[in-house]
Amino acid sequence: MPSRRRHALLALGSAVAAIAVMGAPAVALAAPGDPGTPKYGAGSDGAGDPYFPLAGNGGTDVLHYDLDLDYTPAPPEPAPIEGHLDGVATIDLVATQDLDRFNLDLRGLTASSVTVDGKPATFEQTENELVITPRPKLKSGAEAQVVVTYGGTTIQPTDIEGALYGWVTTRDGAMVVSEPEGSATWFPVNDHPTDKSSFSFEVTVPEGLVAVANGLLTGSSTADGTTTWTWDAPDPMAAYLATASVGDFTLDQYTAPNGTPIIDALDQDVLASQYVDLALTGEMLVFLEGLYGPYPFNSYGAIVDDDSVGYALETQTRSFFSRRAREGTIVHELAHQWMGDEVSTYRWADIWLNEGWATYSEWMWNEFRGRDTAQEAFDAYYADPETEWGTVVADPGPFGLFLSPVYDRGAATLHALRVKIGDDAFFELAQTWVERFGGGTASTQDFADLAEEVSGQDLDAFFEVWLYTPEQPLSW
Ligand code: ARG
Ligand code: ZN
Repeated sequence: MPSRRRHALLALGSAVAAIAVMGAPAVALAAPGDPGTPKYGAGSDGAGDPYFPLAGNGGTDVLHYDLDLDYTPAPPEPAPIEGHLDGVATIDLVATQDLDRFNLDLRGLTASSVTVDGKPATFEQTENELVITPRPKLKSGAEAQVVVTYGGTTIQPTDIEGALYGWVTTRDGAMVVSEPEGSATWFPVNDHPTDKSSFSFEVTVPEGLVAVANGLLTGSSTADGTTTWTWDAPDPMAAYLATASVGDFTLDQYTAPNGTPIIDALDQDVLASQYVDLALTGEMLVFLEGLYGPYPFNSYGAIVDDDSVGYALETQTRSFFSRRAREGTIVHELAHQWMGDEVSTYRWADIWLNEGWATYSEWMWNEFRGRDTAQEAFDAYYADPETEWGTVVADPGPFGLFLSPVYDRGAATLHALRVKIGDDAFFELAQTWVERFGGGTASTQDFADLAEEVSGQDLDAFFEVWLYTPEQPLSW
């Protein structure tokens, strides 16, 4: 699979860049100039993201996750709502340093066996980390296949803000949405966007339920009261964008006008009136391709669940909606497929690059549909006495990731930039951004650099005022 290899190398490049930026890491890199002598050490317990120090890990780059899951939802009777998950995760990875030990993130589930290249490995677990001791040790550059057998009771996990996320157990199944670092609640993982991987899924659930994951449905078979659903997601994906939601879904499949296969998973307990706007998906795909370039993945679709985490998520190729899918949210999550999924944040501090673009896409869609223009949306935001200006948009803090400044001032920043550099440069910037960083990650600095490159303008003052100053911009 040449394309997977290409993306793996890109991901490896960004991991190395990460180490360079973060300063001396607590990991032993093979000494340059001394390539022959391995310097074995432990991979670090985090990818180096200051907002979530234990998210991701050092020393490995995952190429592929194959997740074989067996799930029994919560019984229909009272609280607590708990299910049972048994999993076998087969993880192809490459060592990026000489390793005598490395970590995967795993939280709330218990590993019962680990093998590395078929040989039993010793392991231990802390609250968030599965620490694996491979024998033989792994040399930098070596590929290895790690098989983790694990399982346990599933609950309703929450993020640092108290919002439901991860493998959220429901009465009819599970809703699985893991931004920013909730994937560790359902599989052993390098849970940081700097490590993108391809995925395949084989999810066994009680007969009558449907398991919906990312990518294309490759099969389903029923025997002895259970159904196994298999899905293939070959495009590089950040772990938080993976899903394997389970419920009373009907699958609705069609081909969009741009040729993208669509698979919508619609909960039978949600009235069709709650998701009529999904009929606009094809037109939105064409509209967004005009702005950002070709749709980047092998398929698309929505999951609409009757349960709710209270928000929607741009799960890659299969956006997730809580109870209702409205037009604005539908175009927002679809825009994320380019802005957030295909090009992902290098650090969580860069989240405005996801939410600003997705929100700005709503503004542009509204204009296209004959409602307020993007300029009118900007003017209303800028003049609104309720607007909160006291956030550094490019560093909102882990509790500010999903607050208005990231979304709305992020969108306003993009509109102000468009007016400043002109439509030609702005849309060239958008498309070059996706072309250049697609399949990997990029930072706010990368964006500012590219904006200067494409426009030929010095934009230091612009970005300083809009992204780094916790005040209302007055001139730029
Ligand atoms: N990225 C999602 C969106 O489309 C929001 C995710 C909110 N997540 C959370 N843990 N509160 O805007
Ligand atoms: Zn969003």
